[in-house]
Amino acid sequence: MSVVQRQAFEDFAGCFAEAMLLVQRDGRVLAANAAAASLLGVDAENTGASFLRELVTDPPQAVERLLRECASGQGGSALAFDVAGESVAVAVQGSVLASTAAGAAPLILLRLTEGQAPGALDSLSRQLAALDAEVAQLRRLQDTLDATEAGARAIVDTAVDAIVTIDERGVIQSANVVVESMFGYTVSELVGRNVKVLMTSTDRDDHDHHLQRYLETGVKRIIGIGREVVARRKDGTLMPAELAVGEFFAGGERRFTGFIRDISDRKLMEERLRQREETLRVTLEQAPAGIVTMTLDGDILGVNRALCRVLGRSEAELVGRRFHDLCHADDVAACTDTATRLLRERVPSLEVGCRLSHRDGHDIVVHVYLAVVRDAFGDASSLIAQVVDRTEELRSAEEAREHRERLAQASRVMIMGEMAAGIAHEINQPLAAIATYSQACRRMLEAGRHDATDLLDALSEVGAQAERAGEVIRRLRALVKQGEVRRTAVAINDVVTEAIGLAHLDSRSPRAGLELDLEAALPSVEIDVVQIQQVLLNLIRNAVEATEEDFAEANLIAVRTRARAPDYVEVAVIDGGAGLSGDVADKLFEPFFTTKGSGMGMGLSISRSIISAHGGRLGFTRNEGRGTTFWFTLPSLVEEKRAAAR
Ligand SMILES: Nc1ncnc2c1ncn2[C@@H]1O[C@H](COP(=O)(O)OP(=O)(O)O)[C@@H](O)[C@H]1O
Ligand SMILES: [Mg+2]
Repeated sequence: MSVVQRQAFEDFAGCFAEAMLLVQRDGRVLAANAAAASLLGVDAENTGASFLRELVTDPPQAVERLLRECASGQGGSALAFDVAGESVAVAVQGSVLASTAAGAAPLILLRLTEGQAPGALDSLSRQLAALDAEVAQLRRLQDTLDATEAGARAIVDTAVDAIVTIDERGVIQSANVVVESMFGYTVSELVGRNVKVLMTSTDRDDHDHHLQRYLETGVKRIIGIGREVVARRKDGTLMPAELAVGEFFAGGERRFTGFIRDISDRKLMEERLRQREETLRVTLEQAPAGIVTMTLDGDILGVNRALCRVLGRSEAELVGRRFHDLCHADDVAACTDTATRLLRERVPSLEVGCRLSHRDGHDIVVHVYLAVVRDAFGDASSLIAQVVDRTEELRSAEEAREHRERLAQASRVMIMGEMAAGIAHEINQPLAAIATYSQACRRMLEAGRHDATDLLDALSEVGAQAERAGEVIRRLRALVKQGEVRRTAVAINDVVTEAIGLAHLDSRSPRAGLELDLEAALPSVEIDVVQIQQVLLNLIRNAVEATEEDFAEANLIAVRTRARAPDYVEVAVIDGGAGLSGDVADKLFEPFFTTKGSGMGMGLSISRSIISAHGGRLGFTRNEGRGTTFWFTLPSLVEEKRAAAR
């Protein structure tokens, strides 16, 4: 008898004041209504264990006779019930429930009337007509119950969980079909076997013990709680499972129902997830770059070892603090802006440069790559930042710069050495003129024929020549002066003009052959003037050398300035020389590459590094006719250009 049936009986019979028992053909009491329970002094909840013959003092044969009569239709007799040691006379009228399915054990409804002598049975039989109506009602109820049970069965069989019901000793009473796919046993293989076949050997040993203890103490360790277990399939393989156990009574017997869910997939997923988390954790922890995770407000949630190392602080010192507190005051706004933009624009990541404070108090220059962590709904949940220490990078950039400058300086001194003859000539000329003019003055004075105007003219000529010599020296000093590189905003045309002046010091320079083609109103450039002049000098000297080798007569060299889109100015040195062979063109920017007997091969390589340090490019193009054009670009001061356009 199912729990459902029993419940239905109790609901039905409970409506009657009359005491009623539901018994099997063998006399097992399946259920008692409240009236019967109080009449007989039995526990209505727990009748399943008792038999009718145990409740009466009459001989078992009398009870058997009554049950036989009832089973074949109707019957009645008086029985003496043992109620707490006292014998109570009860008239019993019984009938079989007609709806009991064919082949199934018949269920018999017994109606009890206290204090009725056997003779009173006749009067009871008069009530049979009324009873018949009730029996018919019961029959309908039973039909409903059957349907309900079939429904329940369907639910149990279509459940995703395996459902196994055992008795107090652990013997399987029933199981749903799910066990077949889950455990590899058929239902009929399982029914009647101990549930231990579904367990691992360790659990097996404990199971009897657990059951026993529960039965003795009533302390629930698994019932209604559920737990994860390892189950064993028929083929011996193991399976992680979730087990929930319920308890109920059927026919007075205690039953346990286990709901077993295969959680292999879940476990596998959990394991994969765990492994991924572990991989991620190790990766973050061992990453060479500093990594910090934080809330959207910038509260630090976690840091890796590299970041601790960069900042000279322990994890405990960092976690819980605000990122902003570590950030240089002047950089906080930039960092906050970047985070805000990142959240708003939904780009994968953004970068920002900032300074973070080391434990010692000094600032560390870092580059921060900021990314958003989103949850399953796509909402931003936290921020993760990669912090790259730029100290090394900046130091090597600084070293490279120093190196370049020393080289450039050396090369300028070298140029000057090469130009020595020209320089001597350039200074000698004014000195000679000064000597001549001062001699003339002296002669005028000695002869006493001195006219004040003549003297003044001669003296101002002396002054002008001295200035000319001074100017040459100033230019040379500027070129070779050792000093810090200083960038100033200047007009490129002025720089070119000055460089031409220097080039003229070179005795080989064809004064007449140097042409200037300067575009007016060029935007300013921000440059180190000495270095750019050095580049120009190199290019002009190369042009002169290329020209004089083959075409001493065709001394056409032009220096041209132009504005170039988008925001550059271009300076070009155009020669009509021999041009470049393919071999030379491939190598000419390499240091120490030269085709000249006395060349150093450093000019172009130094020039190129100077120009790229200025953010420009240096290159060449072969002229359509003869010769080559060497050009370089420099970024112009854009703001100023825009202001000029307004
Ligand atoms: N305007 C030019 N025309 C032809 N060849 C050139 C020109 N400028 C440079 N070169 C070639 O590039 C080489 C390298 O030039 P550079 O680096 O200035 O070193 P150097 O002038 O000491 O040889 C020169 O030797 C020359 O062969
Ligand atoms: Mg050169």
